[in-house]
Amino acid sequence: MIAQPLDSPTTVALPGRTTFRLGAFATDTPVFLAPMAGFTNAAMRRMCHHFGAALTYTEMVNVNGIMLASDKTWHLLETLPDEGPVMAHLYGTEPELFAAAAARVTALGRFVGIDLNAGCPMRKITCNGAGAALMKQPALIGKIVAAMVQATTLPVTVKTRVGPRPDQVVVQEILHAVEEAGGAALTIHGRFATQEHSGEVHLPLLAEVKRVSRIPIIGNGGILTAADAQQMFQETGVDAVMIARGATGNPWIFQEIAALFGGAAVSDFRKCETVRGGSGRGRLHDLAEIRRVLEMHMASELALHHQIRAHFRLPSHALSPDLAAVATFRCHLFRYLHGLAGSAYVRGQLNHLRTLDDIRAALDGCFEREAQARAHATALAAYDARGMAESFAAGATGEE
Ligand SMILES: Cc1cc2nc3c(=O)[nH]c(=O)nc-3n(C[C@H](O)[C@H](O)[C@H](O)COP(=O)(O)O)c2cc1C
Repeated sequence: MIAQPLDSPTTVALPGRTTFRLGAFATDTPVFLAPMAGFTNAAMRRMCHHFGAALTYTEMVNVNGIMLASDKTWHLLETLPDEGPVMAHLYGTEPELFAAAAARVTALGRFVGIDLNAGCPMRKITCNGAGAALMKQPALIGKIVAAMVQATTLPVTVKTRVGPRPDQVVVQEILHAVEEAGGAALTIHGRFATQEHSGEVHLPLLAEVKRVSRIPIIGNGGILTAADAQQMFQETGVDAVMIARGATGNPWIFQEIAALFGGAAVSDFRKCETVRGGSGRGRLHDLAEIRRVLEMHMASELALHHQIRAHFRLPSHALSPDLAAVATFRCHLFRYLHGLAGSAYVRGQLNHLRTLDDIRAALDGCFEREAQARAHATALAAYDARGMAESFAAGATGEE
């Protein structure tokens, strides 16, 4: 089963930026989709690529799992034919295992580079010395990068944070280790590991690292709107920006960034902050557009799970592709519906959403309620405007 081909992505060069290069990969629109465990499978990457993400990352993949040929791990490395350039994002601790895994990943011929996770703060990752725990050992990061550089022809990059905690800013040491080991770029999430995924993004620290760096720097953290992306570029000078949560249920953000850089007004992208109930996440789109994109995303999920089943010959008693697609799509569904009046209705149906058709039926109910809410809001606004005009007129004639 093949998903309907999507139109080519929007590729508007961001003015004033030099071409971003990573091995054979080059782009004039350096806005990337971040790795997110549980989200950035091939279906989400394909959607974001379609809307203009120049580069995307797999979910976090364990190097042990690659070497043990665990089916579950290899599912994470599955790609769809038209999803655009993808980086394989790996985690672990042992340089030799990384080298062997990098060779296997390279042999797949599907990826434009290999990225080391040196920033995940989740306990189940750090307790084994991986992810954010690596930040305490910049020399080990260097060894891992050097081992992979030896084992692959692909560019090797690292994704890290500014430091483990506010009194330990180690990102400069990590940069040095990555540069010395032959790393091709460094992504920096501008928060400390202790902050996990919330709180201030330290743009001045990103700017400091960028100033001294000899390799491209990709800035990440807190980009929820096109205006945020512009701010990160302007205040830090980073070579590219990377978006995580701002893109979940909101692939339009990549198109909006291109539009903003192409001359659209910043205010167009700020007003959403109030429309989305203060969450600051994206604009509320036309309902037909949300429906269209949801259908595209569901078709990609289904195609991906058919492909996974074909490659891994899942036993006949395993979940059907349709059921597997629903299981991975559910978390995206609620992100797409975020801020819609009808989303509570879908939430109420949660236990009944077993097939894609169940989701479609729940969406009908959701969009009906949302359309009513929008019609009501429009009528109310018209009524307010009329009331205002009448009191102006009354004021002009001196009436009370
Ligand atoms: C659900 C979720 C899963 C994530 N998984 C990963 C991961 O596998 N590897 C990684 O380096 N970062 C991971 N991150 C961190 C993001 O890539 C990103 O650095 C972080 O969310 C900050 O960006 P944002 O403010 O745009 O969300 C994850 C974040 C979230 C919310």
